[in-house]
Amino acid sequence: MTDPFVRTRGLFDLPPGIVYLDGNSLGPLPKSVPERLQREIATEWGRKLIGGWNLSGWYRLPETVGDKIARLIGAPPGSVVAGDSTSVNLHKALTAALSMTDRKVVLSDTGNFPTDLYVAQMALAALGRGHELKLVAPEDVAVAIDGEVAVLMLTEVDYRTGRLHDMKALTAKAHAAGALTIWDLAHSAGALPVDLLGAGADFAVGCGYKYLNGGPGAPAFTYVRPGAAEAAQPAVAGWMGHEAPFAFDTDYRPAPGSTRMRVGTPPILSMAALDAALDAWNSIDMADVRSASIALSELFIAEVERSCPGLVLASPRDPKHRGSQVSFRHAHGYAVMQALIARGVIGDFRAPDIMRFGFTPLYLRGEDVRQAAATLADILAGASWDRPEFHARAAVT
Ligand SMILES: Cc1ncc(COP(=O)(O)O)c(C=O)c1O
Repeated sequence: MTDPFVRTRGLFDLPPGIVYLDGNSLGPLPKSVPERLQREIATEWGRKLIGGWNLSGWYRLPETVGDKIARLIGAPPGSVVAGDSTSVNLHKALTAALSMTDRKVVLSDTGNFPTDLYVAQMALAALGRGHELKLVAPEDVAVAIDGEVAVLMLTEVDYRTGRLHDMKALTAKAHAAGALTIWDLAHSAGALPVDLLGAGADFAVGCGYKYLNGGPGAPAFTYVRPGAAEAAQPAVAGWMGHEAPFAFDTDYRPAPGSTRMRVGTPPILSMAALDAALDAWNSIDMADVRSASIALSELFIAEVERSCPGLVLASPRDPKHRGSQVSFRHAHGYAVMQALIARGVIGDFRAPDIMRFGFTPLYLRGEDVRQAAATLADILAGASWDRPEFHARAAVT
């Protein structure tokens, strides 16, 4: 069988000698992006000036980019718009979902990414209608879904451990109980097959800068189930999500479909970078990504467990229950990770003791994984991580 990733490996501009296991946090630079940005700046902006909105596809870029993302997450064309950050999109999705129900409980789990919980806490307080955020342990979510739940709001892949929720089963259970669902796909989009339409999910949000490689702070995305969008009343409304922005009416009328989740003027340069980055996915089948990602992560676990006594696997052992990352615990995980980065193997650290390694078949091979595990083993065996410079905490870990 031919390797579907031969083409994609040549598409990324990775520094020589680096093993990059942090594409789950910030994807590397696709070679197509500088060229596209250069053109977008010099030709589209520099020469066409304001004409770029009509002549360069800028106005519809959130939908154009959204359609490219849609293909990767099992969403139909027209159901995804790119823009804003995941946090802001979650606020938009949650308030829109709550506009569709009289129930008061938002159910989530204690492993959810903190921004999701912060967004929910303050959105519910701002609505002032007596909503409650109910948090349960991730393994207790299914039993906590009852007739009181307005919205089930979950992140599919746990950012610390990589634990994967069963989107289809939980969405079905929520719907059977009369609840709506919002899925955060920050660690799913581009990492594993997602079937939003098949699962019947009502809303989804996710990041453009992780597995989608759109660059630091790339626009995020929002999905609204076709059919649900017309009932969703955005609480964050702006002219770009209006039915007729250039009619300049004084009253807000939401645009049809997911376009109503747009708010203000999109950041065209960032959007163009994400648009160019997404071309790496042309003709890539997410089923191939999944099998290659499982092979790479299984290899990493086997190599680390064989050569690094003292590290404890923090991710589910069964790859069926894992996203595309593997995490190990170590009491001095931060220092060990800094020592690893100093040796050219880049992962990251999440407090209190988790070393995270992301597996992205678009540019990683088995030999990279072997090299990463061997370097980690060497650092641990010689305790070379225990130097003052590796203990000094940077602002971003
Ligand atoms: C699961 C999850 N949701 C949301 C976010 C935050 O996204 P943003 O900073 O784009 O708002 C992150 C960031 O890592 C994340 O892991």
